[in-house]
Amino acid sequence: MSGLFVTFEGIDGAGKTTQVKRQAARLTRLGLDVLTVREPGGTELGEAIREILQNLGNMIDACAETCLYAAARAQLVAEVILPALQARRVLLADRFADSTIAYQGAGRGLPEEQIIELNALVTRRLRPDLTVLIDLPVEEALARARSKARAHDRMEMMDQAFFTRVRECYLRLAALEPARFVVFDGRKTPAELEAEIFQAVQEALERCIGTSGDKARL
Ligand code: TMP
Repeated sequence: MSGLFVTFEGIDGAGKTTQVKRQAARLTRLGLDVLTVREPGGTELGEAIREILQNLGNMIDACAETCLYAAARAQLVAEVILPALQARRVLLADRFADSTIAYQGAGRGLPEEQIIELNALVTRRLRPDLTVLIDLPVEEALARARSKARAHDRMEMMDQAFFTRVRECYLRLAALEPARFVVFDGRKTPAELEAEIFQAVQEALERCIGTSGDKARL
């Protein structure tokens, strides 16, 4: 598989979405062919599933919820991610398979090995070249979410212990796979984070496709 596949992970409020946008703009300015996607979403089916999850969130059984995220991911991989990587594009994903391990596994308490198997099925065993984990203390994420109504609604439904489990799971996954994960301190300013993450993305470009982005187009 060619192209570069970078995923962004972290608890709600960590600042992923801002960084996906900033990194995409920066890479595009360098002349790279960049595509961003978000999970759940990015396809017609995925966006419909996103709405279901948002509207019925607290009525959905944890296993059903896992299957909905998995279905959205399967469609996104088939319809968008694999074709983009085959076309040698740089793909930035706002959440991917690790989110389900962290949220439905650690957060909701479903068996991690079964989620890993489900992820293998729906991703066709595709692994990110780089996973940017933006780590943030839960109290800080909750304080940030209070200023954003939508995120606040969602986070109100979960308790602090839930997000602590999610955060700890992410940190454990990062420690297990240090070659794929780079952990960033979400308490830094967006500009500081942008610079640090960009460095990691450039290293991944160099490692995976032999260009640091400032030298050549893909
Ligand atoms: P976001 O667009 O703000 O990241 O919101 C997506 C929400 O969905 C967030 O609360 C995390 C949650 N989520 C899961 O619980 N499992 C998953 O597999 C994914 C992709 C997201």
